[in-house]
Amino acid sequence: MNILILGSGGREHTLAWKLAQSPKLNKLFVAPGNAGTAAIAENVPLGVNDFEALKKTVLAKQVDMVVVGPEDPLVNGVHDFFLNDAELKDISVIGPQKAAATLEGSKEFAKEFMERHNIPTAAYQSFTADNLKAGFAFLETLSPPYVLKADGLAAGKGVLILNDLEQAKRELEIMLVGAKFGQASATVVIEEFLAGIELSVFVLTDGKHYKVLPTAKDYKRIGEGDTGLNTGGMGAISPVPFADKTFMEKIHEQVVKPTVEGLQKDGLPYKGFIFIGLIKVGENPYVIEYNVRLGDPETEVVIPRIQNDLVAVFQAVAEEQLDTIDLKIDDRTVTTVMTVSGGYPETYEKGMEISGFENIEDSLVFHAGTRQKDGKVVTSGGRVMAISSYGNNFREALKKSYQNIEKLHFDRMNYRKDIGFDL
Ligand code: AMP
Ligand code: GLY
Repeated sequence: MNILILGSGGREHTLAWKLAQSPKLNKLFVAPGNAGTAAIAENVPLGVNDFEALKKTVLAKQVDMVVVGPEDPLVNGVHDFFLNDAELKDISVIGPQKAAATLEGSKEFAKEFMERHNIPTAAYQSFTADNLKAGFAFLETLSPPYVLKADGLAAGKGVLILNDLEQAKRELEIMLVGAKFGQASATVVIEEFLAGIELSVFVLTDGKHYKVLPTAKDYKRIGEGDTGLNTGGMGAISPVPFADKTFMEKIHEQVVKPTVEGLQKDGLPYKGFIFIGLIKVGENPYVIEYNVRLGDPETEVVIPRIQNDLVAVFQAVAEEQLDTIDLKIDDRTVTTVMTVSGGYPETYEKGMEISGFENIEDSLVFHAGTRQKDGKVVTSGGRVMAISSYGNNFREALKKSYQNIEKLHFDRMNYRKDIGFDL
């Protein structure tokens, strides 16, 4: 079987690493990929939203299955593009069709979905520029902090949490009238603030059956103690120690089941991963958001714990036979620590030579923002490399990740030294 992975980050390198272990795999392509994927697969230079270029590649390379990493091509309808093309329609795509990808593409759509299917989430209302005044009035009924969310995709920056009412009103106006996030903030969801601890649950579904994958917790802020600006994610741990059996049963009954059943009831075809962002308030789970893909760097801790042949699992998804798969999960904990470019998530330089990663032992090195240049590996993004390790508990695993990071060097390298601090 020939497989093409769409994307270029740590998530895609991890998927490539796992798929490459399968005896069912013939050739593996990653588009556009990074220096890490180049070592185990063939990188194909194309933009993830260039569907015509993707079609050419898929036909030329005789690809049987496309695994979509990021949300953008899904929200733009890459799966529908395949289904609607006579030459592509029999090629499997792992990732939902556009209608279901709207769960991530529109916060308002996701909130309405949760309401319709009785899935616990924060109370909310949504507003456009036409009812800005009503938005102000709604904010006045809430107590701080105020949560404002751009409806559309805003590269992870579309959520504002503000303590001051006047500032919240100002920001609402800038989002709606000033188009702070462009078209993405033409609608804004204002919601009740939920105080609790966050975790994520991953589900794989073929549209009929589903499997709950390991839980993970990521660390989004740049600064230690969860301070400073939001990033794509600075580290992750799986499993989440506080997600015990009782809590997982609640998540399953109150969130996972109604989500998959809701997709069926609403006629939203879904073959792929569902990433459910949750917050534990007291003893109860509330959904903060849906993503229609795996998380990054959550993938770097979730996928290494799956013991099955991932090609076989994806084939079962494509054939709507996921019920035939007996999922085997490694009991050990996996942690990852992300090394990032100095300055990230604000401006940073690219092109720094990376050395020492070939000396890392007893940890997995997943490339995120790297590329090959004149026979060397250089930085090409904010998040550069994730170091994932197994351990009997998260402390043991983290110790390995941190020991191995010591061997890694690039100019102005930064990473958080306190992953897991709150557990
Ligand atoms: P999102 O982009 O939807 O993942 O939101 C970004 C972050 O904002 C989340 O990871 C949470 O930390 C926080 N957040 C979102 N919604 C809420 C809420 N209703 N209450 C508290 N925190 C929230
Ligand atoms: N780590 C968060 C995300 O992938 O959205």
